[in-house]
Amino acid sequence: MKSWFYFLLFLYLIIVSVIVDGDGDGGDGDDEDRPTKGRGGLERNFYRTSCPKAESLIRDITWNRVKNDANLGARLLRIHYHDCFVKGCDGSILLDTAGNEKSEKEARSNLSLLGFEIIDEIKTEVEKECPGVVSCADIVALAARDTVSYPFQKSMWDVFTGRRDGRISLESDANVHLPSPFANFTSLLQLFASKNLDINDLVALSGAHTIGVAHCGSFSRRLYNFTGKGDIDPSLDPIYGEQLKKICPLPINGAITLDMDPQSSLSFDNDYFNMLTKKKGLFISDAALLTDRRSARIVRQLQSPKSFFRAFAISMINMGAIEVLTGTNGEIRKNCRVVNP
Ligand code: HEM
Repeated sequence: MKSWFYFLLFLYLIIVSVIVDGDGDGGDGDDEDRPTKGRGGLERNFYRTSCPKAESLIRDITWNRVKNDANLGARLLRIHYHDCFVKGCDGSILLDTAGNEKSEKEARSNLSLLGFEIIDEIKTEVEKECPGVVSCADIVALAARDTVSYPFQKSMWDVFTGRRDGRISLESDANVHLPSPFANFTSLLQLFASKNLDINDLVALSGAHTIGVAHCGSFSRRLYNFTGKGDIDPSLDPIYGEQLKKICPLPINGAITLDMDPQSSLSFDNDYFNMLTKKKGLFISDAALLTDRRSARIVRQLQSPKSFFRAFAISMINMGAIEVLTGTNGEIRKNCRVVNP
């Protein structure tokens, strides 16, 4: 009787631990208070036997490149995000147009993406090491993490791997699935929810705007005649607005870019949230995070660097798992720019 009791207790504890863990794989290894949303079948070090050197090779190439071009972190991080939001993290952003329909790359929001040639370079080296094994989608996810992590000389978040590459890439999909910099809070939240991301992810991931640049056209609407009275967007700090006007005078020159975090645009830190609370977020979509009580509270929490790094790491795992192709779905592309014949 007693042994039955212990057996049932044991069974109960196992069931509870699986439910708490979510995916039943023994935990994340990242001691966070907010659990990740599962990994869509991805694994830690998926290529451990099929291509053991893949991850270190990718890190070495990216670190070597980012050493000479500090802008690369922002570029590759944005490619990864734009990949994941359109048809999942399946490398579809890398495909060049083939045939009549334009590929994702040619969508308006993607025209400013840079850094594709680094992905090509990595792919070439990885193919030499292990032909046909490592997906372009995983290369993007790892390279984004590694370039951003370079200044810290350690991985800033876990990248689970095993993604396979998609065969479809359409400009029309990118037009629908990428949020606009003019979006309000409700539509941002809805779009993120459609990717299984929540309000914590929305706020934490927006913190990526602590690095990189933006073109004047992405926010100049806020500077000129915003409410029809010749004014600046009232949700933007007026002095900052005047400074932005000097950088982006009328008529707007589509080629001018400026740092999103002028104090430290190359440094991956939590300045974004400090800027935001001072009404210095660049896009309407940034300022929108202060228009909701819950997200404004998260913004304040992420003004602590430790909280931001932890939250960002969790949300990157969540983002990296969006609609991934695993197992026998998709393919391992030979060339990241074209689907296999
Ligand atoms: C919340 C919705 C988001 C909107 C509306 C948005 C919009 C934009 C826009 C308009 C730009 C500047 C494009 C240009 O003018 O050249 C930009 C840049 C950037 N975004 Fe976002 N973004 C969002 C979320 C994210 C997320 C989730 C990430 C990554 C996790 C991210 C990473 C970046 C980076 C790193 C840059 C700078 C790229 C560079 O310097 O080349 N963004 N974003």
